[in-house]
Amino acid sequence: AHGRVTVLGSFNVDHVWRCTELPVPGQTLGGEYSTGPGGKGFNQATAAARSGASTAFICALGDDVGAQWARALAVADDIDLLDERSELPTGTAGIYVDAAGRNSIVIGAGANGALSATFVDAQRERIAASDVLLAQLESPIPAVASALQTAHAAGVLTMLNPAPANAVVPAGIWVHVDVATPNETEFCAHLARDRGLTVDPDGVAAHDDAGLHALCRLWQPAATVVLTLGAAGCFVSHPAGRLRGDASAHYRVAAVLVEPVDTTGAGDAFNGALAASLACAPDRPFQQHIRFAGAYAGVSTERMGAALSMPHRDEVDRRFGRF
Ligand code: RIB
Ligand code: NA
Repeated sequence: AHGRVTVLGSFNVDHVWRCTELPVPGQTLGGEYSTGPGGKGFNQATAAARSGASTAFICALGDDVGAQWARALAVADDIDLLDERSELPTGTAGIYVDAAGRNSIVIGAGANGALSATFVDAQRERIAASDVLLAQLESPIPAVASALQTAHAAGVLTMLNPAPANAVVPAGIWVHVDVATPNETEFCAHLARDRGLTVDPDGVAAHDDAGLHALCRLWQPAATVVLTLGAAGCFVSHPAGRLRGDASAHYRVAAVLVEPVDTTGAGDAFNGALAASLACAPDRPFQQHIRFAGAYAGVSTERMGAALSMPHRDEVDRRFGRF
């Protein structure tokens, strides 16, 4: 079945420098430059579309070449672009990638910062007709909240990827979220902010499962929490009574073996693929969707770039077997 995914989020023109190491203050380095489309929202929409979902993308763009690029790319990937026009320039990101594939990112939000709740509200029919609504935190909170609220009220499965880590989420938003997908850094930042709990992000993967489950339940009692752990795979924690066909309330899923060259957008790959999988085959056990999303994200790290590094579903199936 062709599941319908609506993604709300950012579109950025990514400027990427590949260097042997990440620059430190005062240092000048040389690096190989490339540019490509990105933004957590657009990366996730591209991943959802290439995973086989019929995908709409709600965003704000400027009146410039970046916006023209976004439109052309959306057409090429069959993404239905629902864009608010802003006076501000289309979003940009400066990204350094080191030899190990790690990155540092600076964002110029531009038009992304002007996405209005009014515009999102005008897309309510489209949102309500989706199977899955997916948002992140690179867009203004009122816009994100409006989409989540509309979707949740209409019985659409809602996913919030609470990225980047420094974004503050008002507590009221969480009642509209079915699935939260933080990475270690985001998980610890939100735990600290929402629950006053200090946990070291570097030690998260080493916690025992019962301990991690307890932390997830404490942070978001009503949501399924999918904690992504990079090369350590991910940890899934379901609220009691919402097991979606799974035998246990919590479990780990190992990552697939890959040789990463650029992890930029790996989390986005995971989120878009998970949304598409949930939308297209809602009756499958949750764990199966997680496995597909993990393999999909793994493949995306083996190529440079963000949106353009998203694989098509059949590449992932061919390599790791059908999910
Ligand atoms: O998640 C990766 C993305 O973060 C990049 O594409 C960049 O644009 C920033 O939004
Ligand atoms: Na990549």
